[in-house]
Order: sequence, then C-alpha cells, then structure tokens
Amino acid sequence: MNTKVTVSILRYRPEQDEHPVWQDYAVPFSDDLSVLGALNHIKDELDGTLSFRWSCRQAICGSCGMMVDGKPALACKTFLRDYPQGVKIEALAHFPIERDLVVVMDSFIEKLESVKPYLIPKEAKSLQEGEYLQTPAEMDVYSQFAGCINCMLCYAACPQVGLNPDFIGPGAIALLQRYNLDSRDGGSDERMALINSQVGVFNCTAVGYCSEVCPKMVDPANAVNINKMASARDFFFRFLPSPDQKGGCK
Ligand code: SF4
Ligand code: FES
Repeated sequence: MNTKVTVSILRYRPEQDEHPVWQDYAVPFSDDLSVLGALNHIKDELDGTLSFRWSCRQAICGSCGMMVDGKPALACKTFLRDYPQGVKIEALAHFPIERDLVVVMDSFIEKLESVKPYLIPKEAKSLQEGEYLQTPAEMDVYSQFAGCINCMLCYAACPQVGLNPDFIGPGAIALLQRYNLDSRDGGSDERMALINSQVGVFNCTAVGYCSEVCPKMVDPANAVNINKMASARDFFFRFLPSPDQKGGCK
C-alpha cells in the first residue's frame, strides 16, 4: 500500500493568482486520517499558506464544508481511506471563493435571515405571564429540521442554486420549516410571501441531491416539498369566499 497519498487542492490567493490553480501535496496515509486531518498536516508541515475553515472536528460546527472529489462533504467526516488513489479538494460549489477553500458566505447568511428564523408568538404575553411552554412531543414535530448545522453542503449540491443564486435554497427553507412547525410560533403567514416569491420554493426542480449530501439527516428536500404544497394551498384558498361573504364564488 502507498505510504503517501496525493491531495490536490484548488488554490486561490487573490494577491497572486489570476485564476484558481491546482497544487499537489503528498500526505502520509493512515486509515483514520480525515480530509481535515490531511489539510491540517499540509498547513502544519508542508505549506502554512493554505487557508480553510474548521473548528469542531466532529461534524457539529458546520464550518469545514468543501468539495471532495466533486461532491459536497464535511472534511472532518470524510476519510482518506476512501480515496487511496488520491483526492481532489475544492471550495464549496456555487459560492464565490474568498481564498483557497474559504468561500464568501454573505448571501447564505442573508437567506437565513430572510426566513425570519425566530419565534413569532401567536399571542403576545407579558413577562409576568411566563414562558412559552412546549411539550417534548411538540418539540419532536420540528426537531429534525432544527438539526441543521448551516454547513451549506445542500447549496453546493443544488443545481438550481447554481443557476439562480437568488433562490433562497434548501437549508434556509429547512430553517423556515423548523419555525413553521413550532407549536409556539404564529409566523407562517408572514413567511409565506417569501415561499411564494420569485426566489421561493418553485425554483426547486426536485433533484433531491441536497438531502443526499446533508450530513445531519435534515432532509431539506422534504422541507421544500412541504412548502410547495403549502404554497399551492395558499394560492387556491384565495379563490374561496371569506366567511363573511355570502353566495360563494361565481
Ligand atoms: S440542511 Fe443539511 S446540508 Fe443543508 S445546511 Fe443544513 S445541515 Fe447542511
Ligand atoms: S470541523 Fe466542525 S463540522 Fe467539520
């Protein structure tokens, strides 16, 4: 077996590279070495100029997302043993590269903010009336969508995000669904305008790759599908007479 494996990295240092360029590094192979471990070996032992994001090393913080042999993956959850012939590492697709494997996240953060990712209470309560309580069963209803770690892998996987960067995208819609399903929340009508808009759910063509690459089983494709149904219901309900109208539609 090879004692070293070639890790090819698409480098981009804006002060010297007109375009991104590939650079190869020979990394000592071991069965338990993650891609993140290989990048840290390169940074510590071979080339201190390499830039990449990471923090937890446990698939929790969501910061080490990158393309590994063309697929969106967490570097800390991906192992060199699955690439014995060598591996190609690039910055996450569909995001501008800031430097090497670091991407510009501003548009993603704006999309997360746009879904109003906070509780909009059904009825305002004073502090004296206490907290907005919830049972464990009520929490179970949305907990899958609350598992998102904002790693952006689903954005790199989504062909429609690639075609229309304004599409709010799978992760933000999963976050929206997390709040819509919360028994304490009354904001789903406010969020519907975004769902129905030009940047909303009907940009999705149901490829489903977003859910395939999600490292936390959030299933953002399901959140998109649920909201397509909600949007269609919202559209048709506009043609129904309101309760104070008599005689119905003509
Ligand atoms: S839905 Fe999954 S893939 Fe998308 S940002 Fe959240 S954790 Fe990452
Ligand atoms: S380093 Fe935190 S998810 Fe990989």
